[in-house]
This record gives sequence, C-alpha cells and structure tokens, in this order.
Amino acid sequence: MDLIPYSRQSINEEDISLLSKAMTSDFLTQGPKIAEFERALEEYFGVKHAVVCSSGTAALHLAYASAGINSESLGIVPAITFAATANALRYQGGDVQFCDVEPDTGLISIESLQECLDRVPEKQKEQYNLIAPVSFAGAVAPLAQCKQLASENNFILVEDASHSPGAFTPDDQEGTISSCSGTHALASTLSFHPVKHVCAGEGGAVLTNDLHVAQKALRLRSHGINRPFSETDEMPWYYEQESLGWNYRLTDLQATLGLSQLNRLDNFLARRRKLASRYNQILRESPFQEHINCPPFEDGHAWHLYIIRFKDENLRNLAFKYFRSKNILTQVHYIPVYKHPYYQKQNQGFQLPGAEKFFQSCLSIPMYPDLKENEQDRVLKTLEQFLLKG
Ligand SMILES: Cc1ncc(COP(=O)(O)O)c(C=O)c1O
Repeated sequence: MDLIPYSRQSINEEDISLLSKAMTSDFLTQGPKIAEFERALEEYFGVKHAVVCSSGTAALHLAYASAGINSESLGIVPAITFAATANALRYQGGDVQFCDVEPDTGLISIESLQECLDRVPEKQKEQYNLIAPVSFAGAVAPLAQCKQLASENNFILVEDASHSPGAFTPDDQEGTISSCSGTHALASTLSFHPVKHVCAGEGGAVLTNDLHVAQKALRLRSHGINRPFSETDEMPWYYEQESLGWNYRLTDLQATLGLSQLNRLDNFLARRRKLASRYNQILRESPFQEHINCPPFEDGHAWHLYIIRFKDENLRNLAFKYFRSKNILTQVHYIPVYKHPYYQKQNQGFQLPGAEKFFQSCLSIPMYPDLKENEQDRVLKTLEQFLLKG
C-alpha cells in the first residue's frame, strides 16, 4: 500500500519548467525573481510591503528584530505552536512567557493573554514587548482582541501566519478579519516549507504595512547592509554595514518556485477546503463521534492541518501507531513548547491546562491539495477499523 503522508508539497509541470529555466538564467540568487515574488505577495495579501527570506523562522526573527524586540523585551507566545515562534524571540535575547490556548481549537486564549499581561510589571511595559498570536492550523487567531490588548499595554503584535495564508473569519464588529492583512498586526510572517500552502523548498516572508519595519527587515536580511547610492551616482558600488544582520536571503530559484505556487494558492485553498468539508461530513457520523471531535468547520479556514481530537490520550497514541502500521503518517501538532528541555530549564514543571488538554487529544490526519478522494477514504476506513477494533 502506498504511503500517505500527513502533508506534502504539490509540484506540477509548470513549476518544473519555470525552475529549469531559472537554473540557466543569469541569477541563481538576488536576481529579479526576488522582487517579483515580493510584489506578487503584496498584491495577493493587500499589504504595502513583503520581504522574502530564507525560512519562516528567519521571517519571525526579522519581524521581531525590525519591530524593536531586544534583550530587554518580553514576548507572550501561545504554548501550542512550532518552537520557532518562541525561538525567534530568544535569538533577540528576549524572555518568553507562554500563554494558554483554547482547548478545542489550539488558538491563543484571550483570557490567558489578559492574565499574562496583568502579571507584567509596569516598568517592563516601557520596553519593546511582543504578543505573537499564531493563526494555528489555518484558523485566524483572535487578532482584533489581541490588537486591543496589545494597544492597551503598549505591546507590539506580530502574527505568525505560517499556517494561514488566505484564511479569514467573520467578526461581529469588523465584518471579516483576514490573516496576513496588516490590519491588526504590525507584521505577519509566512513559511514556504514544503508542507505549507506555498512551497519554495524553504523560505519565508514578512508582510507589513509599516515602511520602517519593511526597510529594516530588508537590511537585516542581508547582514545589516545599506546601499545608499543608485546606479547613476558616482559610487554605485558603495555599501556600508549599518547594524549587525544575518544572511537570511532567499534564492532566485526558491522565489521562482514560490511565485509559481502563489499563482495556484486559490486552487490549493479551494482543494483543502473541499477535503476538510468531506472529512467533517463523514467524521460526524457514528462510530467516529463517540471517540473523536472534528475541528469546528468555518468557510474561511485555510486548513493547513486537519486535526482530530481524541477523547482519550491513550487512544490517540494507539491510533498514531495503527495508522503507521497501515502506511499512513499522522502527526501531533504540537507538544506544548514549554515542555521542551530547553524551555523547561527556565520553567521547570510549568503547565497550562488548555495546552495540555489540546496536546493530549490532537492528531493531524492527512491534508494536502494532492490528496485524492480514494486516499482520503483509505484514511477514514483505517480510522474506522481502528475505532471498531476497540
Ligand atoms: C507555526 C509555525 N511557525 C514558524 C514555523 C517556521 O517555519 P520554517 O520551517 O519555514 O522556518 C513553522 C514551521 O513549521 C510553523 O509551523
């Protein structure tokens, strides 16, 4: 039986043909495809500035650093996310405070965020501090409430949108709130890792409406170097390193693939939404509903992950193994970040009830645009066999 992964890239002939052309072009890196990809991202997401870089982690680091986050900063990060959301803050020397999540969605809990903010000493609020909500699994984080709390407490808001390009959600006050729109967060970050919506091999982007953040991210992406003169000036070759940055550049090859994939993002989203709707429909039936909950379905969900939640942790662990024995790969998204030994060193025994509950129950089952209906049926049949087996 063929292997069904929990996620994988979708590459077509067009991607291959554009990439092979790029291989023989004048520029393998820092050529015209970088700016072309950036302008296309700006247009797609309706933001003023996009700065592409070498990974989603680099995008988070660039966004935080460009927003002023430093070693005096405090950052509030939801406990259910990939470690990168917190790590990028540590790269700047800032302190991470983990915030709880809603146990049924994994999204940042506003109540817990308020409690975290209440604990911040007034003196600390004079620093550059961060709230980094994650639009987790493809659902938009409660950005409007996060923005309000950020403003009241003088915190900066950066959305980790690695899971949610194209996601939107209805809102009582604002009509619709979209991920990556630059309306609520100072910046949103994307990842172009192969399991994400837009694949560039590796890659990431900072999206923002703030010119200062964009200019700083551009400089920091390439060592903190500035080129003050244009081609027509006397010294067009001149450059100077203004601050300490990194090599977080994306290559032209990656930008070529990213651009080609961005052109298909609407199709990818439509396909993911169709698969999610099919999962939801079938999983609401017996015998599944006795043992599992499916994710709440919303029209604007971007379905990076399709996470079912088992009512029993032991059953979840056995299901993971059963799926694997049938050549189907599933995944646990995520182990609360505070449980990792690196973070335990600072926070021994720390636990958050919503994050623990989500972690114990969650299992991501296969979800990607190229997943075929008959493969999805195999996943469902396997789950049914497992549950009936007792
Ligand atoms: C929520 C989240 N943030 C950040 C990242 C980091 O992205 P990258 O792997 O491109 O560095 C990931 C990647 O898995 C992620 O899932």
